[in-house]
Amino acid sequence: MSGVRVGVLSDFTHGAAAKVNVQGVAVAIVRIDDSLYAIADRCSHANISLSEGEVHCGKKELECWKHGSAFSLETGAPNTFPATQPVEVFSVSINGDEVFVTRRAENGEVS
Ligand code: FES
Repeated sequence: MSGVRVGVLSDFTHGAAAKVNVQGVAVAIVRIDDSLYAIADRCSHANISLSEGEVHCGKKELECWKHGSAFSLETGAPNTFPATQPVEVFSVSINGDEVFVTRRAENGEVS
């Protein structure tokens, strides 16, 4: 199993974000039902922790609490202003109950 182990599925709560560390990079893990998403924890607008923001489960977004930009959990793109730049998206895999996060660049994937 590749990637960095960040915990087990039960560590993550539906509709909430949690901050983890992946190879020195802060990553926000969001659980929606039994799916997990991982995006960079730093807002692209300013140095704000996205994991302290609000999850929009229906839209699969994480909203920055500072100025309200909502980032897609699937693409990292800001769906609302003022942020205009995307944040990095990470791959999440679940093996049994264990959760692993991988930087997509290392997989040769384009985020
Ligand atoms: S710091 Fe996140 S939207 Fe401004």
